[in-house]
Amino acid sequence: MVDLGLLEAMAQGPRSLADLARHAAAPEPALERLLVAGVGLGLISRAGETDFALGPQGAALLGNAGLRDMIVHHRQLYQDLIDPVGLVRRGGGQGDLARYWAYARSAAPDAAPADAVADYSALMAASVPSFARDVLDAYPFRRHRRLLDVGGGEGAFLIAAAAAAPKLELALFDLPAVVERARSRLAAAGLSHRAQVQGGDFGKDELPQGADLITLVRIVHDHDDPAVLTLLRAIRRALAPGGRLVIAEPMSLSGGRDRVADVYFAMYLLAMGHGRARSPAEITALLTAAGFRDISFRRTASLLSLGLIVAR
Ligand SMILES: C[S@@+](CC[C@H](N)C(=O)[O-])C[C@H]1O[C@@H](n2cnc3c(N)ncnc32)[C@H](O)[C@@H]1O
Repeated sequence: MVDLGLLEAMAQGPRSLADLARHAAAPEPALERLLVAGVGLGLISRAGETDFALGPQGAALLGNAGLRDMIVHHRQLYQDLIDPVGLVRRGGGQGDLARYWAYARSAAPDAAPADAVADYSALMAASVPSFARDVLDAYPFRRHRRLLDVGGGEGAFLIAAAAAAPKLELALFDLPAVVERARSRLAAAGLSHRAQVQGGDFGKDELPQGADLITLVRIVHDHDDPAVLTLLRAIRRALAPGGRLVIAEPMSLSGGRDRVADVYFAMYLLAMGHGRARSPAEITALLTAAGFRDISFRRTASLLSLGLIVAR
């Protein structure tokens, strides 16, 4: 439905089956099956005998471009899941998803060219608005003087934090090609004067010093334990005395709606070939090994099993 632009087609009001079939360039009986399936998911509702309209889920999806981009992106995950036995037996990775993000696993990620990082960085940036508020509500960013967002991508989270904490100085560290994209986005948001960006490889380079708050947003779960330890130690060296690290990402939390992390992220990251959604206890153990203290876990209101861990 996303690929066929059906939600957009119904944005102005109900449309007839014949209309929608023309829009999708598909035969009416086949399109009707798809629409009825959409009704089952709450994406669409019936409006009279022959018309269809947006349902509550469809209206929400139409308002969330980042989620639609993510749905399109999942074709790559489904491609890897065509042979689930093969995926498990080869130990994960080596498929479409792994190739999509290959630059991050190369021997020199900091040499990745602009065209290699463009798609993934844009996809990440588009999905930030769907959870940034939940993170900013769960921790008082205003208490801090200077925020460094490590692996900050195009700066979308930094832009949200800047609005929530108008006095906060901003800094971002990511791969050099990604940082160029952040520079443009921060300039477009009118934040160039408040933000410093630095390119490098957090697997081997020192991080910029001086921040009393460092964030890792959707970073730790992408990496295996040794790489996470290297990164956490670099953060500890960079943090101002008494500073805080905030980790925000999908975590494996027990029970209820949170099972989504155990199912979805387990398979997504297996297909990616590295990383996993960890429990707060597992992240706490890594933080402790890297020398952090006063480690606390907070839930967020996010439906994406996003947990928050704060450490000193
Ligand atoms: C999953 S994305 C998250 C981006 C952003 N924090 C967000 O939530 O949208 C991971 C980020 O880590 C960056 N990254 C991966 N490996 C890196 C490395 N070795 N050094 C610096 N940045 C790296 C990627 O370029 C990407 O922007």
